[in-house]
Amino acid sequence: MRALLVDRSVPGGLRLGTAPDPEPGPHQALVRVTATSLNHGEVKWGIEGSPEGSVLGWDAAGVVERAAADGSGPAAGTPVVTLGEAGGWAELRAVDTDFIGTVPEGADPGAISTVPVAGASALRALNRIGPLLGRRILVTGATGGVGRYAVQLARLGGAEVIAVTRDPATRGAELRRLGAHEVIASPTAAGKPVDGVVDMVGGRQLVDAFAQLAPGGTLVSVGHTDGEEEHFPFGAFFGDRARHDRTIATFYLLDCPDLGPDLTWLASQVANGTLTPGEAWRGTWEKAPEATETLLSHRLHGKAILDITP
Ligand SMILES: NC(=O)c1ccc[n+]([C@@H]2O[C@H](COP(=O)([O-])OP(=O)(O)OC[C@H]3O[C@@H](n4cnc5c(N)ncnc54)[C@H](OP(=O)(O)O)[C@@H]3O)[C@@H](O)[C@H]2O)c1
Repeated sequence: MRALLVDRSVPGGLRLGTAPDPEPGPHQALVRVTATSLNHGEVKWGIEGSPEGSVLGWDAAGVVERAAADGSGPAAGTPVVTLGEAGGWAELRAVDTDFIGTVPEGADPGAISTVPVAGASALRALNRIGPLLGRRILVTGATGGVGRYAVQLARLGGAEVIAVTRDPATRGAELRRLGAHEVIASPTAAGKPVDGVVDMVGGRQLVDAFAQLAPGGTLVSVGHTDGEEEHFPFGAFFGDRARHDRTIATFYLLDCPDLGPDLTWLASQVANGTLTPGEAWRGTWEKAPEATETLLSHRLHGKAILDITP
């Protein structure tokens, strides 16, 4: 099969080449991939840290070529969306059936390929906070792949949504269209306490967002885009009447159980237009170097999608 192979000698660190077809285990389906979306972590750390010739890729949409031998998961011919630790940037992927969602016929695979990491992380992080109806939810890194889904899902869940971007003047209108009630430049501008935070940035934004939590509130630390350390001032964890029982939860998507139903639901919401996938760059996989370069230079606000052409 053809695949994007790690090759740090070429610009962008990826070369379109050939690799052996994957051999699915008994609980894995073989999927013919038609589109993938890129995530910052796999592009930055995956390409840097993986052996030459590796086939990376977390997100992929496609069609089941061969159903899992143990009878789990969808039948051959079913359009699907898939998540795995590797193998998505290839024509064929062997994927655990617990990480497969089914997709409505006719849905755009490129749009659907944004669902696994970005959509499912947003959904699971919001679920970790708890009920959303009538609650104030702060989303940092709101213009990013995960952030856009978090804003939309929090709004769908009935929350009052406060979106944080470093550039509200440019990005504010778009974030409001996605469902944000307020768009601010820093968590310190939240005005009133919030019941939950989905934090994609870390560093100063995590520290400032935690300070905005109402009693009983939860901050889910999803990402660390900022790359900065978190230093909490003395008193940040005092549990007086105004601030008791606040939680910081860490998060790792690939350790979340039973992702299949979430992937199926998210794909249906993208397919019917309820959720906007946040496509910011799209091209065929021959253009992977351009996609990775754009992603790594932080010029994207949303997802980069590669169409896997036959
Ligand atoms: N734990 C997990 O399982 C898990 C799952 C998914 C993602 N993640 C992590 O979550 C983070 C967000 O993922 P993503 O795919 O949404 O990333 P992304 O598309 O790159 O978005 C990140 C956003 O953060 C904002 N930002 C704030 N400070 C920044 C800085 N110093 N440099 C660059 N951007 C900055 C940017 O928005 P503005 O320019 O508008 O401020 C940007 O849109 C990443 O760190 C990712 O690795 C973790």
